[in-house]
This record gives sequence, C-alpha cells and structure tokens, in this order.
Amino acid sequence: MKKLKIGIIGSGGIAQNAHMKGYASIPDECEIVAVSDINPDVAKAAAEKYNVKDIYTDYKELLKDNEIDAVSVATPNAYHKQPTIDALNAGKHVLCEKPLAMDASEAREMCAAAKATGKILQVALQSRFGGPARFMKDYIDQGNMGDIYFARAQALRRRGVPGWGVFIDKEKQGGGPLIDIGVHILDFTLFLMGYPKPVVASGKTWDTMGKNPELWNSWGDYDRSKFTVEDFAVGLIKFDNGAVISLESSFMGNLDGDPFETQLFGTKAGAKVRVYGDNPIEIYTEKDRQLFNMQPKNIPHVESSHVAEVQAFVDAIKNNKPSPVPGENGLILNAIFDAIYKSSVSGKEEAIDVSF
Ligand SMILES: NC(=O)c1ccc[n+]([C@@H]2O[C@H](COP(=O)([O-])OP(=O)(O)OC[C@H]3O[C@@H](n4cnc5c(N)ncnc54)[C@H](O)[C@@H]3O)[C@@H](O)[C@H]2O)c1
Repeated sequence: MKKLKIGIIGSGGIAQNAHMKGYASIPDECEIVAVSDINPDVAKAAAEKYNVKDIYTDYKELLKDNEIDAVSVATPNAYHKQPTIDALNAGKHVLCEKPLAMDASEAREMCAAAKATGKILQVALQSRFGGPARFMKDYIDQGNMGDIYFARAQALRRRGVPGWGVFIDKEKQGGGPLIDIGVHILDFTLFLMGYPKPVVASGKTWDTMGKNPELWNSWGDYDRSKFTVEDFAVGLIKFDNGAVISLESSFMGNLDGDPFETQLFGTKAGAKVRVYGDNPIEIYTEKDRQLFNMQPKNIPHVESSHVAEVQAFVDAIKNNKPSPVPGENGLILNAIFDAIYKSSVSGKEEAIDVSF
C-alpha cells in the first residue's frame, strides 16, 4: 500500500513532540505533507523541524488537499470538535488529542460523524500504549485479578499548574485537572477494567489554591487572575457491572509527591500501577493463606507511548483495523466529567448518558 499522507491541525507543543515525532518514526509508512496553525510562526517552525512542504493558517485549506489521508487534531480542547468533524466529512481519518471534546454533547457529534463517514476516529490517550498498561492488561485478561470491583485513580500534582498554553482557561479547556490529566488516569483505569458502562457519578471541585498568588508553582508562572478552572477535583463513578472508581485529580494540592497511578482491587488480587517510572507495578495477592507482594520485572519496554499511539493509528488505517482508541471511549470520559462537574454544583449524584 502507498505511503499515507498526513496533515497536522494545530502544530504546537504536543503536535511537534508527539504526533509529528510519531509519524516521522515510520517514514516508509507515512509522510507529513502539510501543517496548519492559526499562528503562522508556529506552523512554520513545525514545518521546518519536520521538513513539511505545505503550510496553512486555515485548516480548512489543508482539508481541501485530496491527497491527505489522515490528520492529527492537536489544537486546544475548544477547537477539537469542528476540525475533527470537518476532517471526517472531507474523508480523512482523525487522531484527535485528549480530551476528545469540551463535553459529551460535542463528543457525541464527533462520534456520529465518524460513524457516518466510516473513517477512524482515535483519541490520543497514550497511557494505554505504555509498558505498564500492556503488562497489566494481559495479566488481568488472563484472569489473575478476578473481578475488579473498585479502583482508586489518582492524577495528582502538588504544585503543577501548566504555566503555558490555555490550560487555566475554562472557555478554551472545558475544565481544569479533571479534564486535562484526570482523563489520562481514568482512561488507563477503564482500559484495564474493560471499559464498563458508567451509570452515575458524584463529585466536588475546588478552585482556591490555583488563584492564590502567594503560592509557588513548579510548572512556570501564570496570571492568577486568569485562573478560571478547578485546581482539585474528586469523583465517585458507578458502573453497570457494580464496579466503582474513585478519581482524584489536581494541579495543586498539599500532598506528598505527584502520584499518577491507579490502584485496582480484584477478588483474586490487587495492584498498584503507575503510568510511568521504574518498577511501576506492585501486585498484592494471597496463596495458601500467605500474603504476597510481587513486582513484575518483565514489563514490555516502550520507548515512547506517544510514538506507539501514532504508529497504532497508522497501522489501523493501513490494515483496516478498528480504532485503537475509539471515539466512544472519549465520549464516555467526557460524559463522566460532565456528571462530576454537574454534581459539584448540584450536590447530588448525576446520571451519565453515553448514548449517541
Ligand atoms: N496527550 C498528552 O499527553 C497531551 C499533552 C499536552 C497537550 N495535550 C493536548 O493537546 C492539545 C494542544 O495542547 P498543546 O500543549 O499542544 O498546546 P499548544 O498551545 O502548544 O498548541 C496548540 C496549538 O493550536 C493552535 N491553534 C489554536 N486554535 C487553532 C485552530 N482553530 N486551528 C489551528 N490551530 C489552532 C495554537 O496556535 C497552538 O499553536 C490540547 O487538547 C491538550 O489537551 C495532550
């Protein structure tokens, strides 16, 4: 099969460091032929870095190129929906950055467009392509954990407000750490649990620390008066198979370290799984009335989960496979966040609708 021709929509940080790097890692399979960014300097820099011939400031011009088979959408969250739907309708496959959308109603439209066009919509949730996820998924699927009935998922930063981009702007992001990094650990956890269907969620968000100019931040400086998202969020999500996940996510909080991990409670064994780092997995089990803690050492080595995710996208297109991270997973995540944000205001448990 011929090389896939790739276009990039939104050519900033993640486009250059993950998507373009991923496509460039398989030059026999695909070629980046066009970049676009509303900021011409960013588009030009991305094009120079990866030797790309066509540069646009309007992504709609890029989509007119009939040679392009697939695009990455790596714009801020508020600008995921329209370019994704336009690209699908133009006959392109789409790898869209996380979270899929600002909310479930946008995600629903995007999934419907993918279904109607028959093109692949993949959500850029790279954690599941890393070694720890691969090991644990096999371990769980072989029945070693029994039924997983509870998980505690944490994406917590002590002082980690992104000091660049639009991550503190609710209008452009849809929310704070919950939607930005909670999305990774929740996807990681749900992937390991087989993506059960969520039914209801309750939760609470806070926004006091991120606005406080007295507090030190480790991820660069930012204008405290422009901080319009939550800095800490907690949710309790219930699923139709009886399982429950407790989710915690923060940009700021007074805690020890920056845990990015999930703890799974199964009927045969439990496990603590970190997304990155050395010795990322601990398994807690029992045999002959003795308790054992195990640390697997043969975890697959994945140089970059970002690169692996892009390679999986290209492989799915070329070999007619289903989306490696379907839009429907992105819709489930958005619907859960909608319910947690709503519950924080209502004080009640809120229903989760994942239909489309
Ligand atoms: N998967 C991950 O781990 C990860 C990490 C960082 C960011 N992200 C996601 O990637 C997306 C972008 O984040 P980033 O860190 O690269 O931000 P960024 O600010 O570095 O890049 C975004 C780029 O999009 C451009 N842009 C904005 N509106 C546009 C439009 N309508 N058309 C074309 N270009 C447009 C901006 O000019 C900017 O250059 C966000 O959705 C974010 O959640 C994912």
